[in-house]
Amino acid sequence: MRTYFDLTGRSALVTGAGAGIGAAVSEALAAAGASVLVTDISGEAAASVAERINTAGGKADSAALDVSDRAAAEAATAQAAALGAGNLHIVVNNAGVTSPAMFPKLTDETFRVTFDIHVMGTFHVTQAALPHIPTDGTGRVINVTSSAGITGTLGQVNYSAAKAGLIGFTKSLARELATKNIMVNALAPLAATPMTETIRTNEKFAANMMNRIPLKRWAEADEVAGAFVFLASDAASYITGQVLPVDGGMVM
Ligand SMILES: NC(=O)c1ccc[n+]([C@@H]2O[C@H](COP(=O)([O-])OP(=O)(O)OC[C@H]3O[C@@H](n4cnc5c(N)ncnc54)[C@H](O)[C@@H]3O)[C@@H](O)[C@H]2O)c1
Repeated sequence: MRTYFDLTGRSALVTGAGAGIGAAVSEALAAAGASVLVTDISGEAAASVAERINTAGGKADSAALDVSDRAAAEAATAQAAALGAGNLHIVVNNAGVTSPAMFPKLTDETFRVTFDIHVMGTFHVTQAALPHIPTDGTGRVINVTSSAGITGTLGQVNYSAAKAGLIGFTKSLARELATKNIMVNALAPLAATPMTETIRTNEKFAANMMNRIPLKRWAEADEVAGAFVFLASDAASYITGQVLPVDGGMVM
């Protein structure tokens, strides 16, 4: 019988995985059978997620990885490939930050940092990973974008520009890597994580968000993680260049 969601024998690298969505995705990929290199700018946070996975019976290792550092990306992708006997099957470019301000107050510095982490970080990690990604149809690059990059959002021109940039990145790379049988997709999540705490705890921001979410609730990070497993799995072997919103119906 054909199986669709079993990731046994596959290796994965997740960036920004010390907290929030990245941690939940690491746990979900491991639960599906993958060996996961949990990475984060905080090596300690990454190590504690890896320990949680191993304690629960999964397979994980960890590394400190600041995605804006190309040399660190080379080292981490090689470490992840070692978990997969030389192959790195699944790359999840999840690391991210926000630096909100209304447009007149945005600075060069916050604009640059946002691009360095989201766009340049995804570039570094994906380019470093590419020589290790198998071409037998199991290779996946999953980039994390946002509704902000699709519809725009107030006070986040820097973040929205970077996330929209990742959509172009995803589609162009999907076209380039189609000949190598590697799927490249993006996911636009919405979840209750440290990143969204300010929005969720501010009465006015929270009410505004609830008006925009048809399902009228925030997801926990583990609820959005399943969609990453789907894109990483054989069930998504004929899907490339797509942006999948997992946001309670906010973008449709
Ligand atoms: N939470 C949401 O509702 C939501 C919505 C849309 C998009 N996103 C995107 O999802 C991704 C994960 O968001 P989250 O909500 O889990 O955020 P989070 O703040 O909870 O976690 C982000 C993680 O990234 C790490 N990080 C920060 N800078 C880094 C760097 N330079 N290199 C490596 N790691 C770094 C942090 O240490 C942290 O562990 C981000 O790309 C974010 O933009 C989140």
